[in-house]
Amino acid sequence: MVDPLKEIIKFIKDETGLHLDADASQKLSKTILRRMNALGINSSIIYLNLLQNRADNTEYQKIIANLTVGETYFFRNIDHWKAFRAYVLPRVIKNADAQKRSPRLWSAACASGEEAYTLSICIKEAASCNFFNGIDIYASDINYQSIEKARKGIFDSHSFRGKEEKYEKYFEKIKKRYKIKKEFRRAISFMELNLAQEIYPPELKNMDVIFCRNVLMYFCPERVQAILKRIVNCLGKDGFLFLGHAEGNIAPVDLLKRIGHSNTFFYQYGEKIYSSIDNIKTNNHFVGLPIPAISLATSPKKIKILEKNQQDSTPDGQEMILTDFDIKDTKDKSKVPVDKEKSDAFNHALDLYCMETYDKALKIMTKHLEGQDGSMKEIILAGMINLNMSRFVDARLCYKKVLGKSDISPEGYCLKAMVKEADSDFKGAIQASLKAIFLDKHFFAPHFKLGQIYQKFGDIQKSRQAFLNGLKTLDKDNDERIRLFFGILPKQKLNQLCRKKCRNKKQIS
Ligand SMILES: C[S@@+](CC[C@H](N)C(=O)[O-])C[C@H]1O[C@@H](n2cnc3c(N)ncnc32)[C@H](O)[C@@H]1O
Repeated sequence: MVDPLKEIIKFIKDETGLHLDADASQKLSKTILRRMNALGINSSIIYLNLLQNRADNTEYQKIIANLTVGETYFFRNIDHWKAFRAYVLPRVIKNADAQKRSPRLWSAACASGEEAYTLSICIKEAASCNFFNGIDIYASDINYQSIEKARKGIFDSHSFRGKEEKYEKYFEKIKKRYKIKKEFRRAISFMELNLAQEIYPPELKNMDVIFCRNVLMYFCPERVQAILKRIVNCLGKDGFLFLGHAEGNIAPVDLLKRIGHSNTFFYQYGEKIYSSIDNIKTNNHFVGLPIPAISLATSPKKIKILEKNQQDSTPDGQEMILTDFDIKDTKDKSKVPVDKEKSDAFNHALDLYCMETYDKALKIMTKHLEGQDGSMKEIILAGMINLNMSRFVDARLCYKKVLGKSDISPEGYCLKAMVKEADSDFKGAIQASLKAIFLDKHFFAPHFKLGQIYQKFGDIQKSRQAFLNGLKTLDKDNDERIRLFFGILPKQKLNQLCRKKCRNKKQIS
């Protein structure tokens, strides 16, 4: 039976560019039915007409407000802000000063405004900035409710993630809530903007800095490059772009120079590359990636031979069977920290890593591992911290160290898969994930990684199968290992994520 709401859902998807999987589509259907009910409309065609009415978009806005995720907080990803203050801002101010104009900055999916206000605070605090009244900060989001909240500038402790006392001076306290002071508010122009729309307003041109973090990952893969192209097009000469950490792989590297600073990275748009704006590389050539063949074996000898064979070549045309697991758990459990001090350092660093406080976690692990070899899990933790800080060279050293200690370490291969993925070596990431699975059938992380990579390249069937296998292993996997590879994400959330991905094959990509 044809779903009468299908056309409406298609319209919303086309308009927003958002990737809606089975769960999100189902939720959207319910919202639509609830709205139709509230308005006394029983024809989906009439409701669709109402949504398409450009003259009055009230109804459309209501639907969008229910659809998007507005998770954000002040100084989110502190390394970005360290880099912004130390490297980007002095250059931007100098440049703007020289041209006798205000710096121009844009928070391109600002949610409830914390990112835009963080920009405002950083600029106000920059000692050499004497033109604060003239500063141009733009903040946009598709969700009008978020924009309304951002305009009000009133926040509760959730927006500070428990660190509100650090930022108190920028706010007036109203009972248990915090209202941003006027001086930080008046620099910002808030507006509704759908990043998927073809043309952006002219005031968003010639930006010195654009923060477009943690939004691109919600779009359909086929829309991402076009959106990025429009955003890059809004950068002025030598402008800077910050993407979310998880979005590093999708930046158009032929247009942007990647700059590493303060344990993180961001991008700069250079004069030399302006001319290539229409030739943004996409990663589409990875679609149809050959799948490495792997046979399920039981003996470590066979494992070694398999690894050796897989090292340099990837036989084509053979399918991997992901459903059967029949090998013994060969996890290396030999090196577990024994004395309390050691395990305290590991646990403390693991907690900090799970709270995304990577720099402190790294300091602890670096000190802890100084002059000693470290156990497997300690090196894995150091590797994961480095990876999350985009310190790829060090992350690579970590997986090599683990695999040097034991070349049948599933965790070592999983870390390798993650580093390879960050390096955009997706074929290598798939091979390493498969090895990790081969070595430990109950290891959730490589299944999940495989699912994500296959999904990224549109291989719906394999992606679904990988997530399904992940689901089967999740309960059996040990909690510490889940924390090592997924940080703060609890098993329950991972379970939901996998279920979502498995539910409907058609909606997975
Ligand atoms: C997770 S928040 C990111 C907030 C902030 N940039 C940060 O990193 O903390 C994602 C935001 O993207 C917005 N968004 C989703 N689709 C959008 C679209 N098509 N155009 C503009 N904003 C969109 C959502 O409304 C949401 O507020």
